[in-house]
Amino acid sequence: MAMKDLFITRSVADLVKEAEGAEGLKKTIGPFALTALGVGAIIGTGIFVVIGEGAKLAGPSLFISFILAAITCGFSALSYAELASSVPVSGSAYTFSYATLGELVAFIIGWDLVLEYGVSVAAVAVGWGGNVNEFLRAAFGFELPAAISTSPSEGGVFNIPAVFIVLVISVMLTLGTRESTTFNAVMVVIKIIILIFFIVVAFTAYNSNHFSPFAPDGFGGIASASGVIFFAYIGFDAVSTASEESKNPGRDLPIAIIGSLVISTILYVLVAIAAVGVAPVKLLSGSDAPLAAALRQGAGIPWAGGLLAAGALIAITSVVLVIMYGQTRIFFAMCRDGLLPRRLAKVHPRFGTPARLTLGFGVLIAILAALVPLDEIVKLVNIGTLFAFVLVNVGVIILRRTKPEMKRPFRVPFSPVFPIIGILLCGYLIAQLPWETWLRFVVWLVIGLIIYFSYSRKHSRVRTGEAAQLPSDPSA
Ligand code: ALA
Repeated sequence: MAMKDLFITRSVADLVKEAEGAEGLKKTIGPFALTALGVGAIIGTGIFVVIGEGAKLAGPSLFISFILAAITCGFSALSYAELASSVPVSGSAYTFSYATLGELVAFIIGWDLVLEYGVSVAAVAVGWGGNVNEFLRAAFGFELPAAISTSPSEGGVFNIPAVFIVLVISVMLTLGTRESTTFNAVMVVIKIIILIFFIVVAFTAYNSNHFSPFAPDGFGGIASASGVIFFAYIGFDAVSTASEESKNPGRDLPIAIIGSLVISTILYVLVAIAAVGVAPVKLLSGSDAPLAAALRQGAGIPWAGGLLAAGALIAITSVVLVIMYGQTRIFFAMCRDGLLPRRLAKVHPRFGTPARLTLGFGVLIAILAALVPLDEIVKLVNIGTLFAFVLVNVGVIILRRTKPEMKRPFRVPFSPVFPIIGILLCGYLIAQLPWETWLRFVVWLVIGLIIYFSYSRKHSRVRTGEAAQLPSDPSA
């Protein structure tokens, strides 16, 4: 097998034509729904749960970790915006890299994105289950027994609430994108209100003494916390998985990607300051629901803590919705390209969605959610996502050279300087993660390579000639 063979690419024109053809998805989403999709994917388990781990590592300087992670995401968001607006087809970074870096890299990214989307849905759903209990405790004074609400490694048998939420959302996504995005928009409004509620209530009991010592572990602590709370920002790129269903991708995708990141950054920084202001770091880092605990114990207002738990439940529901939507669309693109079995990608004639894929994937994730614990998964999801961001930045740089004439409705300013800064910042956050996470990530990639060389290469549509286009093709 020739080396060049591994780097076979799909042409952008061909990708767009295919998306607009009979196998394409319905174009139903406008700019507001797209931005809501981003915010829907972003604000969830990260700010409501993982913030506690961030507080443990950074101390009161936690808000600086949020700013550092936001800057890292910002540079990559610009690259996502350029690629998503130029290659507006289903599949996000997977599809961009198929058009730029070649099939092997595209497969690796597609496989890597299963960490960012699929595996994180399971983790986020487990967080949802935990909040069900938190809410039930606050509202009705009882909770589900651990046996049916936690994973085996946490002493339970089967996590029923996590399975429930995954299955409900899978059915919704199968029935139709438009209905689901409307539902998502409502949840997004609710979760923004609940975070503002937190900020306002927390500031009424603000105590500046909580901020000293400001950074007990120096900048090292702030940076490690950034590598973990990065999880809270994951999701703005989910907007780009909906490119193909966007009515006006050239204009709306950049607005939605950057807009959703800006909205969540502002909220997160304020929440991080308010949280430390109302509750000592120890309280935040010792709780499974740090924001609710901050209001209940820190501010001493139990009903506010209960309300916050209910809000967290709604917030996390919309994360499950959007991230799962993103995963099905990435798999859809991979199936359509023949790298995974094509019959899975059939669009349902009535619903206009890849029904078989959505339900099948929902069942797999539900099984995972029933059995998997939260903590380590967050770091694995982060490394996978940061790696995908690196490749997206690389993609922008390469595409500017190989296809300078391509129409780019949105351009990253100062390229290649900005994408290079994006790569360096992602590398920096990856370096903050522990070596066990690196190892798990490498194992995951090796499994992917085995699938690629044993199945995908043989079934790739680019190779079978159905969508053939070599990198040197001038029409590409
Ligand atoms: N950013 C998403 C969350 O925090 C994954 O839940």
